[in-house]
Amino acid sequence: MWLFICLTWSLTAILTAAAQSTQGIQDLVKRRLPNHVNEFEFLLTCNETTPISTAIREVNDNYTISSTAGGKILVEGNSLIALASGLHRYLTDVVNVDIFWYIGSRLDVGPSSLPTVETPINGASVVPWRYHFNTVTFSYTAAFWTWEDWELELDWLALRGVNLPLAWVGQEKILVDAFREIGLTDAEISTYLSGPAFQAWNRFGNIQGSWGGDLPMQWIENQFELQKNITQRMVELGMTPVLPCFTGFVPRAITRVLPNAAVVNGSQWNGFPTEYTNVTFLEPSDPNFEKLQISYITKQANAYGNITHFYTLDQYNENNPYLNSTDYLTSVSNNTMKSLKTADPEAIWLMQGWLFYSSSTFWIKENVEAYLGGVSDNSDMLVLDLFAESQPQWSNSRVNSYYGKPWIWCQLHDYGGSMGLYGQIMNITINPIEALASSSSLVGFGLTMEGQEGNEVMYDLLLDQAWSKSPIDTDAYFSNWVTRRYAGSGELPNELYQAWDMMRTTVYNNTNLAASTAVTKSILELSPSITGMLGSTGHHAITLTYDPDILTSAWKLMFAAATPNPSLWDNPAYQYDMVDITRQVLSNNFAAQYTTLVNTYNSTTNSTSYNATTISTLSKPLLDTLTTLDQVLSTNPSFTLSTWLSAALASSPSTSPSNQSFFTYNARNQITLWGPDGEISDYASKSWGGLVSGYYVPRWEIFTQYLQEADVQAYDGTVLGGRLKVFEVAWQSDGTGNGKYDGWRGWVLMMRRW
Ligand SMILES: *[C@@H]1O[C@H](CO)[C@@H](O)[C@H](O)[C@H]1NC(C)=O
Ligand SMILES: *[C@@H]1O[C@H](CO)[C@@H](O)[C@H](O)[C@H]1NC(C)=O
Ligand SMILES: *[C@@H]1O[C@H](CO)[C@@H](O)[C@H](O)[C@H]1NC(C)=O
Ligand SMILES: *[C@@H]1O[C@H](CO)[C@@H](O)[C@H](O)[C@H]1NC(C)=O
Ligand SMILES: *[C@@H]1O[C@H](CO)[C@@H](O)[C@H](O)[C@H]1NC(C)=O
Ligand SMILES: *[C@@H]1O[C@H](CO)[C@@H](O)[C@H](O)[C@H]1NC(C)=O
Ligand SMILES: *[C@@H]1O[C@H](CO)[C@@H](O)[C@H](O)[C@H]1NC(C)=O
Ligand SMILES: *[C@@H]1O[C@H](CO)[C@@H](O)[C@H](O)[C@H]1NC(C)=O
Ligand SMILES: *[C@@H]1O[C@H](CO)[C@@H](O)[C@H](O)[C@H]1NC(C)=O
Ligand SMILES: *[C@@H]1O[C@H](CO)[C@@H](O)[C@H](O)[C@H]1NC(C)=O
Ligand SMILES: *[C@@H]1O[C@H](CO)[C@@H](O)[C@H](O)[C@H]1NC(C)=O
Ligand SMILES: *[C@@H]1O[C@H](CO)[C@@H](O)[C@H](O)[C@H]1NC(C)=O
Repeated sequence: MWLFICLTWSLTAILTAAAQSTQGIQDLVKRRLPNHVNEFEFLLTCNETTPISTAIREVNDNYTISSTAGGKILVEGNSLIALASGLHRYLTDVVNVDIFWYIGSRLDVGPSSLPTVETPINGASVVPWRYHFNTVTFSYTAAFWTWEDWELELDWLALRGVNLPLAWVGQEKILVDAFREIGLTDAEISTYLSGPAFQAWNRFGNIQGSWGGDLPMQWIENQFELQKNITQRMVELGMTPVLPCFTGFVPRAITRVLPNAAVVNGSQWNGFPTEYTNVTFLEPSDPNFEKLQISYITKQANAYGNITHFYTLDQYNENNPYLNSTDYLTSVSNNTMKSLKTADPEAIWLMQGWLFYSSSTFWIKENVEAYLGGVSDNSDMLVLDLFAESQPQWSNSRVNSYYGKPWIWCQLHDYGGSMGLYGQIMNITINPIEALASSSSLVGFGLTMEGQEGNEVMYDLLLDQAWSKSPIDTDAYFSNWVTRRYAGSGELPNELYQAWDMMRTTVYNNTNLAASTAVTKSILELSPSITGMLGSTGHHAITLTYDPDILTSAWKLMFAAATPNPSLWDNPAYQYDMVDITRQVLSNNFAAQYTTLVNTYNSTTNSTSYNATTISTLSKPLLDTLTTLDQVLSTNPSFTLSTWLSAALASSPSTSPSNQSFFTYNARNQITLWGPDGEISDYASKSWGGLVSGYYVPRWEIFTQYLQEADVQAYDGTVLGGRLKVFEVAWQSDGTGNGKYDGWRGWVLMMRRW
C-alpha cells in the first residue's frame, strides 16, 4: 500500500521534521574517517512521508555513489541506511578498507587522497529488512560491553546495511519499575532477576533468580543509561530498534500483590532446580497482563522516545505452553497481541521462530497454526526463521511459511559463542535467494548467531547477499574480502589469497549437514572422558567437515605470507587471524592425540597388558599442545580470559569485593559450568588464553593422571567425573591464570621455536 511513497524509517525524523537529517551518517564518517570529513556528501533522495506500521515493508533501499565536480564523493540514497550502505560499498570496493569485529575500524588506512568514482556505482537491496542479533547474543557476547564496544558494533551494523537490530540492553530497569508499580518489593523482584551473564534466559522465561549473588540495582541503572545511547545511535544511523516489551514472565510473588492473578508455571529448563526455573507466567487473558504491557511500553517510550513499533516477545522459547490446546494457544497470542496494540496501536510482534524447531514435538501443524492464527492481521507479526541455513522451518508443512506472517531468513551459525572455523557458503548464498522466489512473505535476511566469535566472513556474506539478486560468487567475494581484511599492509602476498581460497572451498563450504550444522567445538574444551568425546554431530558438532591437513596447508601459507611482507605482523587482522587459524590447527591436532591415547588405553585387555608409563608418555603431547595453544592465544587480547573477566569487573557497579567477585563468578560460570551445578556445562566453552591453562589443562591432567591409575577394566566415569567436578566448582570463585598479554612479537619467536 505504500508502494508509491518514498519511505525511510527513522521515526524520530518523522516526529521532528519532514526533511530527515543525514547528521548520523556524517558523524559516522567523523568517528571513523576523521581526515576525510569534508570529502563526503550525503543526499537523501526521499523525504519522510508517513510513519510505517507494517512489517511488510514494500520498499527496498538503494544508493548511487559518484564523484562530484568539486572532487567529493557523493552518496545518494533513499534512506539513511541506504546512505550508510553506499558509503560502505565505496569504502570496501573502491578504497578496499573495512571495519571488523575484534579488530576494530580499519577504515582510515586507505590512501590519504580518496579515489574518485569514474562511473557511478548503484546498489539496491533485495529485501526491505536486514536483521541482527539473537536474544542470547546479549549475554554470550555483549554482557559486559561498554559504550565504546557498542559504538563499534553499531557502526559495523550500519555500514553493513542492518536496519532492524534487536535492542535488549537495560530492559530490567523498565521491568523493575513496572513491577514496583503493582506493589512488588525490591526483594521480591530481586529473587526473579538473573545475573549479568545470564539475563538472556531470564528474558526468555527459561530461568529466574541468580546463583552466587543478586543482580545489583545499580548495574540495572547503568545498563539503562547505556541503552539510551544505543537506541539513540541506532536511530541516528537509520535503524529501527526492536525493543523489549512485557512477555508475561513474572516474579513468583505476583500472587501476593495480585491474589487472583491467573498464573501458571513454565516448564523446567535444562535440568535446573525449580528454584531457578519453572518461571511463573501471567496468562495474557488476565487483565493485569494488559496493564503491565501498557505500563512497560509507556515507560519505555518515555525513556527512549517513540522510536519503534517493533517488539521482541518470546513466550515459548524452550519452554512449552501450559496447555496443549489450539483454543488456548489462539487465546494466548490473541490476548498478547491485543495488549501490544492497546499499548502501541501500531505494534508489531517480533518472534524468534526457534520454538518450532527445538520443540517440534509440541508444535504440530495445528498448534503452530493456532498460535500464529491468534493474530488476525498478518502484518502485525514478524517471525525470524532462526536457523534457516540448516534447519529452515518456513519450508516444512507444519510451519508452512508461517501461514502468511512476514518472516526473515536468518543464519544462526554459532551456538554458545563456539570458536571453530566453519561455514556454509553455498547455503547462505543460494538458499535465501531461492526462498525469496518461493515465499511471498519473506521480507528480510538476518544474523541470529548466539555469539559473535570469529568467522566474520560468513556474516558479511549473508548481509551482502541482501543486496544481490543472484547468489554471490564466493570466489570473487573472498578475494575482495581478503584485500580489505588486511588493508594497510601494502601489496598483499598471493599466499594470503590462496590460504583463504583453500578455506573457502573446505572449511567454509560445509554441505554435509549430517556431520555438522553449525560452528564446531574442540574436544579440548570439554570435560575429559574416554567416551562420547568424538563424533558428535549437529548443532554442537565436534566432527570436522573438512580434511584437517588442508587447514594445516592453509595455515602454512598464511604464515609464509609474512616472509616477503613482514609488516603483516603489524596488521591487527593478520595477528587475529593467525591466532585463530593456529588455534584451529592445534585443536585438530589435539583430537588426533586424544584418539591415539584412548585407543591405546582401550586396547589393553587386562592388567598385564596395561602399562601406566605408556599412558603417561602418550599423555604428554596432549598437555604440550594445550600449553602451546595457551601461549598462542595469550598473545592477543581478543583470545584471553582476562579480557572477559576485566570487562565483567569493569561493569561491576561497585568495587566492594563481594560485588566484584559476583561479577567475575558470573563471567566464569557462563563459560564453564553454566549453572549453579553444571546444568549445561561447557555449552559456552572458549579457547582463550588463561582459560586453557587455568581450566582445561588441569582437567586434562586430572584425566591423564586417572588413566595412569586405573586400567580400562577399572575405569569408572563417576570417579573421574567426581574429581573433575571438585576442580570445576573450585575454579568458579578461585580460578588461577587470568591470561596474560605477551605481545605478538613474543609469540612469533615462540612459533618459530615450535
Ligand atoms: C530507489 O527507491 C525508490 C523508492 O524509494 C524508487 O522510487 C527508485 O526507483 C529506486 N531507484 C532504483 C535505482 O532502484
Ligand atoms: C526534502 O525536504 C526538504 C525540506 O522540506 C527539501 O528542501 C528537499 O528538496 C526535499 N527533498 C526531496 C528529495 O524531496
Ligand atoms: C553515552 O555516550 C556518552 C558520549 O556520547 C558518554 O559520555 C557516556 O559515558 C555514554 N553512557 C554510557 C552509560 O556509557
Ligand atoms: C517444572 O516443569 C516440569 C516440566 O518441564 C514439571 O514436570 C514440573 O512439575 C514443574 N515444576 C513446577 C514446580 O512447576
Ligand atoms: C509517544 O507517542 C504517544 C502516542 O502517540 C504519545 O502520547 C507520547 O507522548 C509519545 N512519547 C514521546 C516520548 O514522544
Ligand atoms: C497435543 O495434542 C494432540 C491432539 O490434540 C496430540 O496429537 C499431541 O500428541 C499432543 N502433544 C503433546 C506434546 O502432548
Ligand atoms: C483476536 O481475535 C479476534 C477474533 O478472532 C479478532 O477479531 C481480533 O482481530 C484478534 N486480535 C488481534 C490483535 O489480532
Ligand atoms: C562446495 O561443496 C559442494 C559439494 O561438495 C560442491 O559441489 C561445490 O562445488 C563446493 N563449492 C565450493 C565453492 O567449493
Ligand atoms: C542447505 O541446507 C538444507 C537444509 O536447510 C540442506 O537440505 C541442503 O542440503 C543444504 N545445501 C547445501 C549445499 O549444503
Ligand atoms: C574406549 O572404551 C570404552 C569402553 O570401555 C568405550 O565406551 C569408548 O568409546 C572407547 N573410546 C574410544 C575413543 O574408542
Ligand atoms: C592379558 O593380555 C595379554 C596380552 O593381550 C595376554 O597375553 C594374556 O593372556 C592376558 N591375560 C589374561 C589373564 O587374560
Ligand atoms: C612399560 O613400557 C615401558 C616403555 O614404554 C617399559 O620401559 C616398561 O618396562 C613397561 N612396563 C611394564 C610393566 O611392562
